Amino acid sequence: MSMLTSPDGSAISRFAFGTMQFGGKADARASGAMFEAAIGAGINHFDTAHLYTNGASEEFLGQLAAPLRDHLVIATKVGYRDGTSSSQLQRDFDLSRKRLGMEMVDILYLHRFDSQTPLEAQLETLVAMKEAGQFRFIGVSNFAAWQVMKAHAILAQSGHAIDIIQPMYNLVKRQAEVELLPMCQSERIACAPYSPLGGGLLTGKYLDGSQGRLTEDDRYAARYAPDHMHAAAKGLSDLALALGVHSATLAAAWVARHPAAPMPILSASAAEQMAPSLAAVSFDMDEDLYGQLSALCPTPPPATDRIEET
Ligand SMILES: NC(=O)c1ccc[n+]([C@@H]2O[C@H](COP(=O)([O-])OP(=O)(O)OC[C@H]3O[C@@H](n4cnc5c(N)ncnc54)[C@H](OP(=O)(O)O)[C@@H]3O)[C@@H](O)[C@H]2O)c1
Repeated sequence: MSMLTSPDGSAISRFAFGTMQFGGKADARASGAMFEAAIGAGINHFDTAHLYTNGASEEFLGQLAAPLRDHLVIATKVGYRDGTSSSQLQRDFDLSRKRLGMEMVDILYLHRFDSQTPLEAQLETLVAMKEAGQFRFIGVSNFAAWQVMKAHAILAQSGHAIDIIQPMYNLVKRQAEVELLPMCQSERIACAPYSPLGGGLLTGKYLDGSQGRLTEDDRYAARYAPDHMHAAAKGLSDLALALGVHSATLAAAWVARHPAAPMPILSASAAEQMAPSLAAVSFDMDEDLYGQLSALCPTPPPATDRIEET
């Protein structure tokens, strides 16, 4: 289990809430309603990024989080679009803290692996910011396991570590099971996976032709295009119907059920969408149901490719 805590020492919640839609599909009022719903469900970990909605996501989150600040774990990310030079990372993070209205955030992620700047230099910048008290936990997102371990080894030289990773992980995107999640268990690294609902695919709404991110955003349409993913969404929906539970509840609870105890980052574009995924926070999934859900999509082969011996 994760050792991450809020500034007042509260344990980090089992689920997080992502604010990528704040200031985009969700206006200030809708964002406020979603924040309150997440808090009401016991969530104290909120995720944003320098990149999201031109800064509005960080601004909205900062305003909403202010009254509860010390009880919350606030995460942001830098280094997605403009490179990862020391000056760029510091400039982006300074602006992120300003938007959030926070001298210090809890988790700072490198948003993705950047091969254009030596990893040593990127981490040196992060360590300097951490030692200056600007953030508390080091994270990386969208890194392969070897990249996480390389970062971990570099950081160990100065007495630091990768504290948390943020990979994509859901019922139809299971690559994280091969190396990332076992690595987290072995190295005691926390994990907050994003897209637990496959961008909305696993709500089942596309089965009846509804509109949403997958019909509006080409990147997500391509990411979730394969037929077997839609077949899994159908299987999930059938199972959910039989159990009298929402597909989204099962999908989000399935992510959290992995033995590495990942903390799924729930999200929504409107407050009305939140109830089914928030129900996952208190959903008790037994081994049998976990197995049935896992069988909806192929388990990825092991890193050694020796399938016959697993
Ligand atoms: N590190 C990264 O690179 C990265 C990448 C992506 C996300 N993230 C983080 O992870 C968080 C979650 O990611 P995600 O938004 O991709 O998660 P997700 O749970 O896979 O998808 C959430 C989307 O599904 C749809 N949805 C959710 N509940 C629904 C319901 N009850 N009925 C119908 N549609 C529903 C909504 O989209 P529509 O209404 O628009 O269809 C919602 O925005 C983000 O907020 C962000 O903080 C990080």
